Amino acid sequence: MTITFIGGGNMATALIGGLVARGRPERDFRVVEPSAEQRRRLAARFPAAVLLPATDAGAVAGSALVVLAVKPQSMREAALALAPHLAAASGLAILTIAAGIRRADLAHWLGSPVPIIRAMPNTPALIGKGITGLYAAPDVAADELALAAEVLEAAGEVIRVDRESMLDAITGVSGSGPAYVFYFLEACEEAARDLGFAGADARRLAYATFSGAIALAQASAEAPAVLRAQVTSKGGTTERGIAAMDAAGVKAAIVAGVKAAAQRAQELGDAFGSGA
Ligand SMILES: NC(=O)c1ccc[n+]([C@@H]2O[C@H](COP(=O)([O-])OP(=O)(O)OC[C@H]3O[C@@H](n4cnc5c(N)ncnc54)[C@H](OP(=O)(O)O)[C@@H]3O)[C@@H](O)[C@H]2O)c1
Repeated sequence: MTITFIGGGNMATALIGGLVARGRPERDFRVVEPSAEQRRRLAARFPAAVLLPATDAGAVAGSALVVLAVKPQSMREAALALAPHLAAASGLAILTIAAGIRRADLAHWLGSPVPIIRAMPNTPALIGKGITGLYAAPDVAADELALAAEVLEAAGEVIRVDRESMLDAITGVSGSGPAYVFYFLEACEEAARDLGFAGADARRLAYATFSGAIALAQASAEAPAVLRAQVTSKGGTTERGIAAMDAAGVKAAIVAGVKAAAQRAQELGDAFGSGA
């Protein structure tokens, strides 16, 4: 079964790499990638994949799924180049992973009634540890949805949402989420340095604390609030630390920050749409 990628950059490379590692043969993949240098990189990594410099009829003929993996600002151009070849290519579905580009705008550029599945991955997808929000409208067949989910699962977990607008929420929570975690790590590292640790040790303490706590939470059936209560003894150090964070409004600020990011995702979607 052939899968075509339009755009052969970081995300396409990660997804194809994940799918090949899970047993899909390289020859199943066609990749449209205008950059000769990037095509050379792809050829070195996936020697049996078909690499094309531009979208033509051969790029999509017989393909079951076309994955649009270009930057949002290149999406209109990529979709317009794909449009003339869709009418002849029956039985294919489109999967878009571009942040902020809505199905209605994509459908408008493509000009054909083709099923469109929209997904929002996050950067850990590049190492197979992402979480991707997925929205498929009712016109998407079960086998098309299953293939799209298989492609996305090559980059980590997939969470399905039942309204396209929820992808803006996904963007606010998990799309921008890795940056919130890095922000927390920055703060922990800074505090450890202030308390006298050298740079490398300060970072080690921050990273190991974070990854250890995540592993513990995932291994436990308890909610994070319960786990936190379990390590917060009365009159102790954790209680004092959490009280200082509560007094500074840290939790409320994180909730507000995530919501602000989701709001920005909606605004950016509106802005891309108005450029249609
Ligand atoms: N990377 C992430 O962690 C991440 C996370 C969430 C969502 N996404 C989404 O995933 C998409 C791809 O991201 P990426 O990081 O893989 O970007 P990328 O590395 O820049 O890859 C995009 C590739 O598409 C090529 N391209 C540009 N215009 C094209 C066209 N008209 N037809 C065919 N190929 C074209 C680009 O070539 P040139 O360089 O020559 O322009 C580039 O090689 C983006 O929409 C992004 O929003 C990425």
